[in-house]
Amino acid sequence: MNPNIGIFNILTSVSFGYGSLNNLNSILETNGFHNVLIVTDKGIRNAGIIDQVSKKIENADITIYDGTLPNPTVANCEEAYELFKQQNIDVVIGVGGGSPLDVAKAVALLATNGGAITDYEGIGKFKENLSPLIAIPTTAGTASEVTNFTVITDEARKYKLTVGGLNLAAKWAILDPTLTLGLPPSITAATGLDALVHAIESYTSKAANDITKALAREAMRKIGKYLRIAVYNGEDRTAREEMLMGSLLAGLAFNNTRLGNCHAMSHPISAVYGVAHGVANAVIIPYVMKYNSFAAPELFTDIANDLGVNIEGLSLFESARAAADAVRELAIDIGLPTDFRLFGVEEEKVKELTVDAMLSGNILVNPRVTKANDIEELYIKTIRGDY
Ligand SMILES: NC(=O)c1ccc[n+]([C@@H]2O[C@H](COP(=O)([O-])OP(=O)(O)OC[C@H]3O[C@@H](n4cnc5c(N)ncnc54)[C@H](O)[C@@H]3O)[C@@H](O)[C@H]2O)c1
Ligand SMILES: [Fe+2]
Repeated sequence: MNPNIGIFNILTSVSFGYGSLNNLNSILETNGFHNVLIVTDKGIRNAGIIDQVSKKIENADITIYDGTLPNPTVANCEEAYELFKQQNIDVVIGVGGGSPLDVAKAVALLATNGGAITDYEGIGKFKENLSPLIAIPTTAGTASEVTNFTVITDEARKYKLTVGGLNLAAKWAILDPTLTLGLPPSITAATGLDALVHAIESYTSKAANDITKALAREAMRKIGKYLRIAVYNGEDRTAREEMLMGSLLAGLAFNNTRLGNCHAMSHPISAVYGVAHGVANAVIIPYVMKYNSFAAPELFTDIANDLGVNIEGLSLFESARAAADAVRELAIDIGLPTDFRLFGVEEEKVKELTVDAMLSGNILVNPRVTKANDIEELYIKTIRGDY
């Protein structure tokens, strides 16, 4: 991606708001879909969400794959794709957080391109458009419902691979905040912080443009205002709606800019130590913001403003640094960790983690030029809690 050229794409038709799940049946009927595969996980099923979704489907046979793991695997994609073939499916519906949505995308890709998901690692490595795909998020976090990426863990390599491409998109996304009302506080916290990191990394990305910046800023304002409320008063309908919109706006932004050092570093941590995506990002982001604040102080000052920090009387670099402090405070307030001490992340592994982090395209758009030794130092700080 040439960071000097502004780009903005969206290939997904989005319906948003309380009650938007009612649109599901008309999408199926208008397009003549009669054989659906729902890709989800056991947590979503146990929360009764698959029943809620199935009730909206009036005239189609439903097959369910609920084996998706958090940090979903190559094996998850193969199992779900097997069901797709056996049942002669005509539309895939991903229901869940980023994990089921990413497996659903992988199935829709394999359905038209064949092979294994590992064959398509990288950007634009597949030829055929995806088979029809509807994405229904149940977390306000990844925005996988509108992004052109799927992130899958290759267990053999202990590596989170990204498959991307302009056409790797759901054709329809239905964002009904009703489905997030029962999201437990710890998952609300981790996924919501992930959405905030998307907005922050997109806003400060070297590939940002006026469209993506406007989306990212509005996302930061909403998430800064409503994440604590969503965590501690999950039934607050406004907070849930604003968080889902914040996550969507952040997704539309980062889908066109990529992210930064935080996501480059969090993927290897999740792949090797199984740390949930949002939790890994929550730990890393303040360290990365502090590191980046020297390179783009105006942008970080904007973030401080959007998060409601009083920056009066502060110098430019102090206010930029205040943005990092504000995100750290938010993470602490909602019960997220501030270092990797509890997760068994070993300093001896840092060189290995760094090799994988440096493979990420996100490093190239990070606002401060970053070399391997910078990432090593950042990892060490996150392990020791040396903020
Ligand atoms: N494709 C992309 O653009 C993109 C972007 C960012 C992250 N990701 C990927 O997304 C994955 C993380 O997704 P996530 O953070 O949404 O978590 P997740 O999908 O792994 O879900 C976490 C847990 O929350 C539970 N859950 C979800 N919604 C619920 C609800 N409404 N009620 C009760 N329980 C619920 C699930 O059962 C699961 O146990 C990671 O693999 C990450 O790499 C993808
Ligand atoms: Fe993320």
